[in-house]
Amino acid sequence: MTRKKKLPRFPNDYLGTKANEYNNQIWMERNQKQTTRRCINFLFDPCLGDIHHKQDSEYLILDLGCGTGFSSELLIEYGFNVIGIDLLPDMLLKANNRKKGIMDKKTIFELVLGNINNLPLRINSIDFIISVSAYNFIIYNKKNNHEKIKLLNKTASQLNRILKKNGRIVIEFYPYDQYELEIFLNSFKINNFNGFYIKDNPKQKGGQTFLLLTKIWQK
Ligand SMILES: C[S@@+](CC[C@H](N)C(=O)[O-])C[C@H]1O[C@@H](n2cnc3c(N)ncnc32)[C@H](O)[C@@H]1O
Repeated sequence: MTRKKKLPRFPNDYLGTKANEYNNQIWMERNQKQTTRRCINFLFDPCLGDIHHKQDSEYLILDLGCGTGFSSELLIEYGFNVIGIDLLPDMLLKANNRKKGIMDKKTIFELVLGNINNLPLRINSIDFIISVSAYNFIIYNKKNNHEKIKLLNKTASQLNRILKKNGRIVIEFYPYDQYELEIFLNSFKINNFNGFYIKDNPKQKGGQTFLLLTKIWQK
């Protein structure tokens, strides 16, 4: 997401009429889809190692914090099978309306009301995970660094378990500062992921930040 004004507040900016506003903003749709396109390209980035690129229709992608479904819709247009998950019914209902407009019966498109920090999914079931402008919110309400790190580690460990062998994650998000960026990345590194971050403007606070991660397979 490109910053139009200031960063959104969670959950207030995604409730009731704010969810409507979010869903009706043309620039928001454009930004979410542009960023999602970058995430898709990063999924196949050679820096994450060799990958045998199958047909997109052979992959199941999890969209964490799918909101009103802009990112999920683009993933479906690419031909991926998609599970979108979001915590807020006001947002997810709109994603569900979007889903009704997608008629392709061959493609899986499921929406789940749930928490990224407690995913109701089977182990080794997901090929890829993306998250666009949502993952920074998972530490919402955590009061100190100890609490944040504990939650980030637990979530990274869960994400590792649900990913298949060679599974990959690309997260675009808004860490508060460099320290926060490091604790997000580290939560993955200590939970059997290789990876790194890409910052569009390394010297500035603004600009987009991506985590690119690949699961380390343990026999
Ligand atoms: C910027 S919006 C969604 C962007 C999304 N990529 C789209 O295309 O609309 C961020 C979303 O993250 C969701 N979110 C925040 N924390 C969450 C959590 N812990 N679990 C699931 N969803 C969460 C919010 O409810 C919100 O809908």
